[in-house]
Amino acid sequence: MDRTQLIAEYIKFFENKEHKLIPNSSLVPENDPTVLFTTAGMHPLVPFLIGQKHPLGKRLVGVQKCIRTGDIDEVGDTVHHTFFEMLGNWSLGNYWKEEAIEYSFEFLTKTLKISKEKLAVSIFEGDKDAKEDSESIKIWEKLGIPKERIAKLPKKDNWWGPAGLTGPCGPDTEMFYWKSKKPTPKKFNSNDENWVEIWNDVLMQYNKDKEGNYNEAKQKNIDTGMGVERTVAVLNGLEDNYLAEMWKPLIKKIEKLSGKKYQENEKSMRIIADHIKAAAFILNDKIVPSNTEQGYVLRRLIRRAIRQIRKLSEKSFSIKEISKPIFEIYPDYQLNQKLILEELEKEEKKFEETLEKGLKILKKEKSSLKTGDLFSAKKAFLLYQSYGFPIELTKEILTEEGRNVDEKGFYEELQNHQKLSQTASAGKFKSGLIDNSEETTKLHTTTHLLNEALRQVLKDKDISQKGSNITPERLRFDFNFSRKLTPEEIKKIEEWVNDKIKKDLIVNREEMTLNEALKSGAQAEFGTKYPERVSIYTIYDKKDNQKFVSREFCTGPHVKKTSELGKFKIIKEESSASGIRRIKAVLE
Ligand code: ALA
Repeated sequence: MDRTQLIAEYIKFFENKEHKLIPNSSLVPENDPTVLFTTAGMHPLVPFLIGQKHPLGKRLVGVQKCIRTGDIDEVGDTVHHTFFEMLGNWSLGNYWKEEAIEYSFEFLTKTLKISKEKLAVSIFEGDKDAKEDSESIKIWEKLGIPKERIAKLPKKDNWWGPAGLTGPCGPDTEMFYWKSKKPTPKKFNSNDENWVEIWNDVLMQYNKDKEGNYNEAKQKNIDTGMGVERTVAVLNGLEDNYLAEMWKPLIKKIEKLSGKKYQENEKSMRIIADHIKAAAFILNDKIVPSNTEQGYVLRRLIRRAIRQIRKLSEKSFSIKEISKPIFEIYPDYQLNQKLILEELEKEEKKFEETLEKGLKILKKEKSSLKTGDLFSAKKAFLLYQSYGFPIELTKEILTEEGRNVDEKGFYEELQNHQKLSQTASAGKFKSGLIDNSEETTKLHTTTHLLNEALRQVLKDKDISQKGSNITPERLRFDFNFSRKLTPEEIKKIEEWVNDKIKKDLIVNREEMTLNEALKSGAQAEFGTKYPERVSIYTIYDKKDNQKFVSREFCTGPHVKKTSELGKFKIIKEESSASGIRRIKAVLE
């Protein structure tokens, strides 16, 4: 079974069980300041997991592209990937454990035709926060999984979420497949690498609060995740994921360009293929390389890949060339090939100018070190600042030779230069749930006003949102426009927004069909695929509630009235990418 078939079969299976298909969302979570990337299929569903009504109902299915930055350093073995696809089915306060597990079992054994003999499962063993999940044991036993194939494991193995500090979470039950050609052992041992986890049913029955308590949730949800890459690999009897169809053409290309064999260079070829694929998908979601947040992760991926290429072969070839098979592997995503190739080339050129010089400095400094000395923070910072070496790269090069860098000193140096995006220190590289705090909610509504203000003041109806990121402190908004704004224009935009705040307009949420929404004049985000029923937020004129100042496709949350917002101020206007401007603004 190949990737396309697996995805199609999964969706068909759940559609036959009254699930509705949700779109594959952006890799950059909308309105979620606590995470940089979508790390699981549940991210776009957070508002609905905590009680908001989903326009498509209570049973959902979909495939979601994901990025896990926590695994970047693991990439190089047979199973880790930065970019991957996750299949999932969700029950929003609808069906519970019994049906969820039965569905999983039916799909595995009937649709994928996996023999029960090759399956094992794990369940949560219980601790002070929640009791043993004996219900799941009973369900699995009823389906014919013997006791010795059901492992009871602690929280670190069998609990999922919250993705951030607070939010929905719960025990999970995971399904494992025996991938080896050797006979399947009677007893399941989760430490044996031949047992590969392919699916996870999360039984979201708790809500973790700020104090760290797990409270029984009002709405009990099912959140499942099946890794496409892994499942395709095991179904095809492959012991190395990188031999599966979504990797092989990339590996072949690297072999051809480098003149080297995969068997002798597995680790570096996997890193190159993985990082370039992840970079292509991130670029496709309108992020460009930079020194902060998502842009920094992207830069790290590209530059690490470039260094691996240089290490691999004397031959000179570009990451742009390597990336080409990606467009054939994923025709369904209709990736923006032109943009991706251009950006990869640009970033490669930029790094090339400094890479050699940087490596020389690194070598020189290293040779003057005595055994046990740390590589100096100042030099690491110089490499970062002037030669474009992400600290992770410097660290990696040094570790390869048994050396270490003064990382703490590096971050101090960075902070001194006020270059530190708070991202790394705020632990944002881990995942997190939507921060529905008052501040972010207010800034979110403000973003809608700003979006409209730009079209009005700049008198350009083609301006639309090209990206948004909100933290409790500020909003950041990217839009298409070809030049810098003048101080007068900035002032006018502020006045437009503040005027609407003063007028105390009403913010209203409605659900309608996609067609109705498009006809109603709602602003859609370019390139986003929307489902058949959508949620629309309108900011209405209070006196005449037919008239509105803003209407957008959006899942919220928002304030009720604009008077809640305070005073709007633009703190920065700059270029974000070619033809894209970026505004940062606050509420005072
Ligand atoms: N959200 C769950 C996971 O990522 C399904 O494993």
